[in-house]
Amino acid sequence: MKRIGILTAGGDTPALNATIAGAVVRANQRKVEVYGLIKGFSSLQNPQVPHVHLNPLFSAIPELDATRGGTLLGASRNYVDARDLVAIEQMSGRIRRLGLDGLVCIGGDGTLNGLQPLAEVLPTVLAPKTIDNDLGLNYENEPDEWALESTPEPPGYRYRRMPSRTKFDLDHMVNYATPGFATSVYVSVGGVQRIRTTAESHRRIAIVEVMGRHSGYIALGSAFGQPDLVLVPEHPLDIDRLEVRVRELYELQKNVVIVCGEGVVGGDGEILGARKATHDPSGNLILTGAAEALRGLLVERLGDDYFRRYRRADTAQAAIFTRKIGHTQRGGRPILFDRFYAAMLGGKAVDMLLEGQNNALATLQYRRDRGFYVDSYSGNAFRDRWGLIHARYMHPSFYDPELMQPSRLGIEYLLPIFTNAIGHDDVEHMRQTTFDSGNLLRPYHSINTDVNKRIRYLE
Ligand code: F6P
Repeated sequence: MKRIGILTAGGDTPALNATIAGAVVRANQRKVEVYGLIKGFSSLQNPQVPHVHLNPLFSAIPELDATRGGTLLGASRNYVDARDLVAIEQMSGRIRRLGLDGLVCIGGDGTLNGLQPLAEVLPTVLAPKTIDNDLGLNYENEPDEWALESTPEPPGYRYRRMPSRTKFDLDHMVNYATPGFATSVYVSVGGVQRIRTTAESHRRIAIVEVMGRHSGYIALGSAFGQPDLVLVPEHPLDIDRLEVRVRELYELQKNVVIVCGEGVVGGDGEILGARKATHDPSGNLILTGAAEALRGLLVERLGDDYFRRYRRADTAQAAIFTRKIGHTQRGGRPILFDRFYAAMLGGKAVDMLLEGQNNALATLQYRRDRGFYVDSYSGNAFRDRWGLIHARYMHPSFYDPELMQPSRLGIEYLLPIFTNAIGHDDVEHMRQTTFDSGNLLRPYHSINTDVNKRIRYLE
């Protein structure tokens, strides 16, 4: 292979540039040119195919900085529709004209689903990314547990998860953790810790919403910030139990901090934060506010008198507040764990192409006796029998629904990732740059401005 393409698809993470950098380092060693495609698959859907040569003379362009969040290539949630043969033929022609011999897609489960049609026109592999940590398998035969059942209203089919017959073992997880996840937990933990002291001062109940879609990994990891209660989508909310715990804690310490994953479901199985059911361009449900929905339930159950009795607040509305960590958990400098393994996975993806792999992905594996290492899997290992890849749910055994906290096994899962996840340079970087006087004197200089000067077009 002489020249490969690379793109970043789906929602961004702080570790995308690190993956690109890892891929480019490896490509330089193996004397392969790397073209970065601008804004994910939309580059190939555009007749002009905007792209950037990332390693002229086999050295990385200076804009490629592994410590910088986001992606210098830009990202989009555009996907390739396998049924649109005309569009695929057009993309195939553009790939040929660009002279690409292979493609690395940096993405999550949606990207792995979406790259399949491209894998039929050129060797294509995935380097994983997602803050949600939902690209992977809890065990190898997990995709076989999906069943399709018919629905009368509206007529059609829907997926149902059949009960598992597999004994879970941490060592058997496929893709233990995904670049982006650690940094997003790091940001969420900081948010939880900061909310705590203000909740303490004002005798408040804080509900902190974290991302993760339908997987509770970020909520689980946020337990490092010592919230009193953690709610994850994998365990339907037991509102009676929650109310009891909130009262106990509030009476003891005059404040409560609850972390709530955005995909948390109520006792009826309905997603709390998706009252307005809308979808993004790749078909994902847009989650609008689990924390607000939860706040409504607690306001109703606790009532104003509960807070007035001890002069802690005038109303339940005033005492219970919500904050979303929001997109801060997806941006900024990646911490050491993410940078290091993102780069390894980028390098691995290039090796996979050069070994002749196609429709496959690089994975980050963990074993108790070996630690972390990179490996590769066929994309089909992730597909159910109808060919669809499902987002990985956090294994329910990682959570203790009684305590509303990570279980022992959940803690065992988290420790290898987060022990030493922050590097000395991460701390030093904060010390040196946060109050750099130059920040006040210079306007922000966007990476997009520099990369723009390097963009080339086919036509
Ligand atoms: O998949 C990553 C993620 O950050 C989810 O956790 C979240 O639900 C979603 O993307 C938010 O998407 P957007 O950036 O389009 O608001």
